[in-house]
Amino acid sequence: MLLLNKFRLLEKDDFGILSAIELRMKHHEYVPLEEMIKFSGLRSDEVTFRIRSLSRDRLLTKSTGDQQGYQGYSLTTFGYDALALRALVLSGAVEAIGKSLGVGKEADVYDALSPGGKRRAIKFHRLGRVSFRQTHRKRGYIADRPHISWQYQSRLSAEKEYSSLETLYAAGVSVPKPIAHNRHVLVMGLIEGTELKFAELRGPKPILREILRNIKVTHQKAGLIHSDLSEYNILIKPNGRLLIIDWPQSVSTDHPNAQDYLKRDVLNILACFRRKAGPEPDLDNVLAYVTGKSRTLIL
Ligand SMILES: Nc1ncnc2c1ncn2[C@@H]1O[C@H](COP(=O)(O)OP(=O)(O)O)[C@@H](O)[C@H]1O
Ligand SMILES: [Mg+2]
Repeated sequence: MLLLNKFRLLEKDDFGILSAIELRMKHHEYVPLEEMIKFSGLRSDEVTFRIRSLSRDRLLTKSTGDQQGYQGYSLTTFGYDALALRALVLSGAVEAIGKSLGVGKEADVYDALSPGGKRRAIKFHRLGRVSFRQTHRKRGYIADRPHISWQYQSRLSAEKEYSSLETLYAAGVSVPKPIAHNRHVLVMGLIEGTELKFAELRGPKPILREILRNIKVTHQKAGLIHSDLSEYNILIKPNGRLLIIDWPQSVSTDHPNAQDYLKRDVLNILACFRRKAGPEPDLDNVLAYVTGKSRTLIL
């Protein structure tokens, strides 16, 4: 994560340089100095000076240079974070970032505050962290683009999650409220809660019923399947209500493998309740219920 004290010290022209690199990284892995000057609109001595401090703060990295002495610069994760964070601050989505809420497989999540003092969660999608093969296999929407960059993958992931959250929130599924997104970063409502894995359940049956009801609404009203549902992606609030998080890999119910994903989600949840000595319902009845083929759920 970007060091926030560094972020606060960045000036408008620093962002001008970061933006110029971002723009030209569509064409180069490392952006040549001349292009940084041209696209930032800054004087060359100004650019050289700022590159030094941006590199020191690890917002940029330099190519090692080839025989012709070609040198260029590319954004680091921190540099990309800085651009997204600046946009979100300028648009009034967040004002401050606090402690880490969780470091998952594919994201870093922090608590944050809006300018009005409302608590938010801010999620930085980090797709380059897992092997490319793995993301490639899991995420159909990048399958046709072989040389996709970590920035682009992470941005698509945040956009996908944001649009799914909008659909789900409107359909009445228990999800965090989507607030804003920029590049690979998503701002949403903060949930005070414990992951189902670690939650002490007073009565497992009502929670299981509520999870299955949410899977049903997700399927029937939002036309979606979570497809990474697990006891880590369900948060239980102190009042016993729950929220389902982590939606970037959700698929439409029209997806050719939709029923396999749905079944896997349901099996994960049933296994979790079996471990917690909860009910062990019949899989076919559960699947018929969540897909709307049956109105009754027998627990
Ligand atoms: N809206 C939120 N409010 C509170 N905590 C959250 C929120 N979203 C995520 N978290 C925490 O951050 C962790 C990682 O987030 P998640 O969306 O599951 O990403 P991933 O598992 O892909 O890294 C979660 O397990 C949870 O503990
Ligand atoms: Mg998760």
